[in-house]
Amino acid sequence: MREYLDLRSDTVTRPDEEMRNAMRDAEVGDVVMGDDPTVLRLERMGAELFGKEACLMTVSGTMSNQTAVLSMTGRGEQIIVHDKSHMFNLEVAGLAQISGVQPRTLPAPGGRYDLGELEANLIGTAIQTAPTTLVCMENTFNLNQGLVVEKEHIDQVCELAHGKGVPVYMDGARILNAAAALDMEPDVLCRETDAVSVCLSKALGCPVGSLLAGSAEMIEKARRMRQMLGGGWRQGGVLAAAGIVARPASWR
Ligand SMILES: Cc1ncc(COP(=O)(O)O)c(C=O)c1O
Repeated sequence: MREYLDLRSDTVTRPDEEMRNAMRDAEVGDVVMGDDPTVLRLERMGAELFGKEACLMTVSGTMSNQTAVLSMTGRGEQIIVHDKSHMFNLEVAGLAQISGVQPRTLPAPGGRYDLGELEANLIGTAIQTAPTTLVCMENTFNLNQGLVVEKEHIDQVCELAHGKGVPVYMDGARILNAAAALDMEPDVLCRETDAVSVCLSKALGCPVGSLLAGSAEMIEKARRMRQMLGGGWRQGGVLAAAGIVARPASWR
């Protein structure tokens, strides 16, 4: 019988035997009660991977993105997103529906903002304006391209945004691919960003899962927001165990 490789996406993967065994044998508790040891371990590993104070496991990249925006903004504010970004195009208008923010889309060929245009859109509070309170980036820059955004540009965006008191969120669904391509540790690549997410279900073989890392204060808020979105699962250790098996080499 002929066998076919399924190349539709890096999400079309199957957990291997080691991963399935780890899931079966996972030590579990209750995530909502905060005592699932396997989830807590994976979250500690995620914080370390990105050099951030804290980390939260969610079920998907979409949930991490929406949880991040909910935690980092308030209703009626403006956030900057790439016009081709997943957050703007492929999340069922969650930015408007869930967070109630106004997305300001800017062109960003190859995932790179024009810095002058970005600066012009970091708008302050005035009687008629929606203040810009978050800048979002994506790495790798996807929409079926998987382009790597280099650290220099990320740092320039962060410097500009931080200069106006605006934090930067990195949708890093495939940030580990970018880190590998740049031969750079993820914490170095994302050092200047305020928060970053990564998907465990893309190229890493997990059936489900994403990690959102940031400051302790932001993640504490994100934990409540995840709960609101229905992400307060119980014996999540079964899923987190897959993430621990999938960890990149630099994490071992
Ligand atoms: C850049 C980017 N962000 C977020 C997501 C959403 O991830 P999920 O499918 O786990 O919700 C994807 C999915 O492909 C993506 O490519």
